[in-house]
Amino acid sequence: MSSQESAAPQGSESNDPLAGVFLEDKNKFKTCSQIGFYRRQKLFRPDQSPYLAQLSTLKVEKGIVTFNIIHQETKVTLQVQVIAIEGKILRLKINDVLPLKHRFEVPDVLVKEPTTEWLNISQQETGSVVLECPSASSKVHITAQPFSILITQEGKALIGVNSQGLLYFDHLPSPPPRSELGEKDTEVPHHSSEDVFGLWKEEFENDLDINLNGLSVGLDFTLHGFEYVYGLPEHADTHQLKTTGENEAYRLYNLDVFGYPIYDKMGIYGSVPLLLAHKPLHTCGIFWLNASDTLVEIHSKADLQSHLRTAAPDIRKLRAVPNVDVRWMSESGIVDVFLLLGPTPLDVFKQYVQLTGSQTFPPRFSLGYHQCRWNYEDEADVEAVDSGFDEHNIPYDVIWLDIEHTDGKRYFTWDQERFPNPVKMQEKLREKRRKLVVISDPHIKVDPNYILYTEAKEKEYFVKDRNGRDYEGSCWPGVSNYLDFTNPDAREWYSSQFSLDKYKNSTDILFVWNDMNEPAVFKSPEGTMPKHAVHHQGWKHRDVHNLYGFYQQMSTSEGLIRRSGGKERPFVLTRSFFAGSQRYGAVWTGDNKAEWGYLKISVPMLLTLSVTGISFCGADVGGFVGDPDPELIVRWYQAGSFQPFFRGHAMQDTKRREPWLFGDDNCRLIRRAIEERYTLLPYWYMLFYRTHLFAEPVMRPLWVEFPKCPDAFEVENQYMLGNALLVAPVLDPGVTSIDVFFPGPGEYWYNYRKYKRVKGSQRQKVDVTLEEIPVYQRGGSIISLHSVTGKSTGWMDGSPYRLQVALDNKGSAVGELYIDDGHSLKYLHEHMFSYRRFTFARNVLYSRSADNLGRYPVDSILEKVHVMGIKRSPTEVTVHSTGGERRKVNFSYNKGLCFLCLENLSLGVCSDWEIHIA
Ligand code: NOJ
Repeated sequence: MSSQESAAPQGSESNDPLAGVFLEDKNKFKTCSQIGFYRRQKLFRPDQSPYLAQLSTLKVEKGIVTFNIIHQETKVTLQVQVIAIEGKILRLKINDVLPLKHRFEVPDVLVKEPTTEWLNISQQETGSVVLECPSASSKVHITAQPFSILITQEGKALIGVNSQGLLYFDHLPSPPPRSELGEKDTEVPHHSSEDVFGLWKEEFENDLDINLNGLSVGLDFTLHGFEYVYGLPEHADTHQLKTTGENEAYRLYNLDVFGYPIYDKMGIYGSVPLLLAHKPLHTCGIFWLNASDTLVEIHSKADLQSHLRTAAPDIRKLRAVPNVDVRWMSESGIVDVFLLLGPTPLDVFKQYVQLTGSQTFPPRFSLGYHQCRWNYEDEADVEAVDSGFDEHNIPYDVIWLDIEHTDGKRYFTWDQERFPNPVKMQEKLREKRRKLVVISDPHIKVDPNYILYTEAKEKEYFVKDRNGRDYEGSCWPGVSNYLDFTNPDAREWYSSQFSLDKYKNSTDILFVWNDMNEPAVFKSPEGTMPKHAVHHQGWKHRDVHNLYGFYQQMSTSEGLIRRSGGKERPFVLTRSFFAGSQRYGAVWTGDNKAEWGYLKISVPMLLTLSVTGISFCGADVGGFVGDPDPELIVRWYQAGSFQPFFRGHAMQDTKRREPWLFGDDNCRLIRRAIEERYTLLPYWYMLFYRTHLFAEPVMRPLWVEFPKCPDAFEVENQYMLGNALLVAPVLDPGVTSIDVFFPGPGEYWYNYRKYKRVKGSQRQKVDVTLEEIPVYQRGGSIISLHSVTGKSTGWMDGSPYRLQVALDNKGSAVGELYIDDGHSLKYLHEHMFSYRRFTFARNVLYSRSADNLGRYPVDSILEKVHVMGIKRSPTEVTVHSTGGERRKVNFSYNKGLCFLCLENLSLGVCSDWEIHIA
């Protein structure tokens, strides 16, 4: 949310925080043609690459291949490095050999320096070299004139690099004199030249950006034989990336866009420069490690003969159609790109996670329902809302406090009138086994009486302006300075602010929400920090912009871990993010609107986040801006209940919208949706454990689960939760039926609640009422559920379990259950977990350990087992326990549905046993 022209006057607080708030006007944000480096790079025409590889300079050292390329007109030389990384990844780095200015290389995003593997020269001729990477079964064909690279696997072309010849490196000519730049106090050497392409200066919205470090880079890639590409969050757009038009590109530039337009490629809150390409037998990825303003053009073409026209003859015949061309352009930095060679979708997820880390395993409470509003006004309000949930028997886990809970938007403080006794308030929540989340934004009010401000100022932890003074911008508190989270000392200091002794009146049930961390700056061009602001070690904001939110969440999450003496899992929600943010918590999609279009777009937006490593993601349920009508809010709860991060949130001027305010019938429907979430918690928790451990996204587009099924590649109004549940939310008003696509030839799908079976590989019109959204369980899966819900996840510890077994066409199924204490890091350090696998084969259901290292004692009971797809009524069902004990079990069977129900089982859910169905 931005409060622009008429936001609080500088230096004072506005009594009406909504003063001047309006829906964003797109003109406030740059179009491609208003971006200097885009204009410069677009002057370059395809197929006229000036670069020549000097293959005589090629050397192999410790398996890393290095050679020079030269710009044939300017004679500027660049160094290319080709590095093979374990797990079928190729890294390509291109940088100046003799830099006029040092270029920024993104730190802290890679979890470690990747382990390199051997690359050999397998063929060397005049004008070309072939490198072999045995571990990735791939070859790297380098052509000298013009310089290009082709990656092949098993003799087939996979990824072309610079095949269109669009490699671009700004080489800094001498700048014009200062007077021509219109700025007095910048240190610019003297020389005169025209600057129509924004190399030295760029004006937007009355801001003059003196572009001293604007050394843009660009490169093109051809994805051979691919038609479908995905990824590149965050855009309010389709999941499948589309061909970009004239002067159009997907922009990766973190911006606060209040009520963002939908089906638009403009940059919004976060950026992950990862693109995935998929075809039936192959998935691969391009991870462009650059944190500056980045534009990505995409062109799908059926025939690209021209792409290899200039390549060596034996490469030309490797051409495959159709192809997708991807052109990346970044404002600064180097070319540092990782080609993730797959071949399966899961391999690509693993390759990406190997580089940038996996989704942090969240505390269990955070998978429950969150109730937020800007703002819950005071302690009485918090208490009333909290009791409202109990009075209406609706489970919920967390109540949230927005900016008004603070003393004048000074984070880490409390408004003493509204919140005179925050500890008591938290203790009451604790008794209910619930939590509190409070907001902590990165702007710090300029106020000599505010200790956070004075300390940060004294320690020089604020971002500077180009004149060396603390950069001043305006945000909620009025005039503010911005913490420089790129400085490790500032991060460390910020982390320490969360300790219980420093953060007055906080307790260990308080968790954190980082907002406005793009960073948002009111009355500033594009609502963010000017690119010429200066960070730690002198780097310009343009170099690090997309990392700002990533670093704040990193520091907050480390602060919460530290607060607990390294024992507890943190929960931190962030609005702005970058590659690797998954390591620090959850992400939400910012200021959406209470309109059907925004409910609909939440699905592709979350799918895109999910396939780029960020599994813990959600959208504001109900829509942040405006007032949802009852049907919309019910449908949104039903959809949100099956999305990873499940939070209702609303803007300040909206009508109150606690579930019971929509009348008894709608309240019942909302309760039902939330209860379904709580019933399914064991499955959610297991999915999060698996994403943490194995990099499998929690929410999955159909193409991930059905990679060979082209009909699934464009589906984005339904999705899989894990590999077992197919969710088809109702995304339009007034509908009585929706079209559901059941993927997979030979697959069985069972109505999740009513058990009726549908065969895969077909579309069906499915009747819907306002009661629920269609959900199906895949044949071959077993999911664990709770058979009763509680006031919050905390009340469901030890509550009984039910297994829902859905048989495939061979009469088999498999599924897992993961249990631990739900909050600590003991699962990691002390093996305090129990990880179980259930297998159904030849009419026997087995319970066995999935990881024998686990030693968490569980005394919860498995009460019921439901089996779908049992063809005939059993004559007898018996339970066999480890001690040799054998007992008969009562059962009921529904012939029409082929449904078997076993009740009162009283089995240890984490013990070894077998259920035999005779
Ligand atoms: C903008 C956020 O997107 C929104 O969720 C929040 O309520 C407001 N800032 C106020 O903090």
